[in-house]
Amino acid sequence: MNRINQLNQENPKKEFKMSAIAAADLIWAIGRGNDLIYRISADLKRFRRLTLGRTVVMGHNTLLSLPGQKPLEGRTNIVLTRDTNLKIPGAVTVHSLRGFFDFAQAAADTEEIKEIEEIFVIGGESVYRQLLPYCGQAYITRIYAGELDADRFFPDLDSDPHWSGEAESEPAEEKGIGYRYFRYTNSAPLRPGEAL
Ligand SMILES: NC(=O)c1ccc[n+]([C@@H]2O[C@H](COP(=O)([O-])OP(=O)(O)OC[C@H]3O[C@@H](n4cnc5c(N)ncnc54)[C@H](OP(=O)(O)O)[C@@H]3O)[C@@H](O)[C@H]2O)c1
Repeated sequence: MNRINQLNQENPKKEFKMSAIAAADLIWAIGRGNDLIYRISADLKRFRRLTLGRTVVMGHNTLLSLPGQKPLEGRTNIVLTRDTNLKIPGAVTVHSLRGFFDFAQAAADTEEIKEIEEIFVIGGESVYRQLLPYCGQAYITRIYAGELDADRFFPDLDSDPHWSGEAESEPAEEKGIGYRYFRYTNSAPLRPGEAL
């Protein structure tokens, strides 16, 4: 056994799982003008319930789209930005995918952050595209509309052979907007930090 394998066996890395969560319409639109397109209060409550007490990772634009441009309460917030001078009270900033995975792995290994076992990737488009290959599942609220003026999109999981989706709820409606919860599973997620 070489030295690195021996060290890895002596100090096995703690695992953490990654899941994406998003609300996308029939053409997978998720945003417009750095804001959400649809606001379904039942869905926002479900998002809160699923992510509360967990870790969330988001892009800087998504942070700026949140109420008060502030991190989400009750969750460990990680924000991706290339601005190394940016300080965000209540959030950890990381400056690359490698920086994100190093931080997450160190936090898991040292158990510094208890809620690191599941990290939710909460957007936006650029972060979904980069981190979806590492996610084992995606909680997708499918909104039965198609916003032609959208400028941000989630990757089309229905035409990705790695992903398969199942409905988790019956169709529902709020203020005339139909929606339904789906859970998609990735048959071959990358390991954290793989293939960077
Ligand atoms: N429907 C939904 O479920 C949902 C969820 C979340 C967001 N959204 C929507 O999505 C839109 C925002 O998406 P977006 O694609 O414009 O922005 P984003 O992914 O939220 O943020 C992009 C920014 O994140 C930073 N970043 C991304 N990758 C990085 C990397 N590898 N290393 C370092 N920094 C990195 C950069 O910040 P700097 O510019 O600071 O360097 C980049 O400009 C909004 O309309 C929002 O409302 C929708």
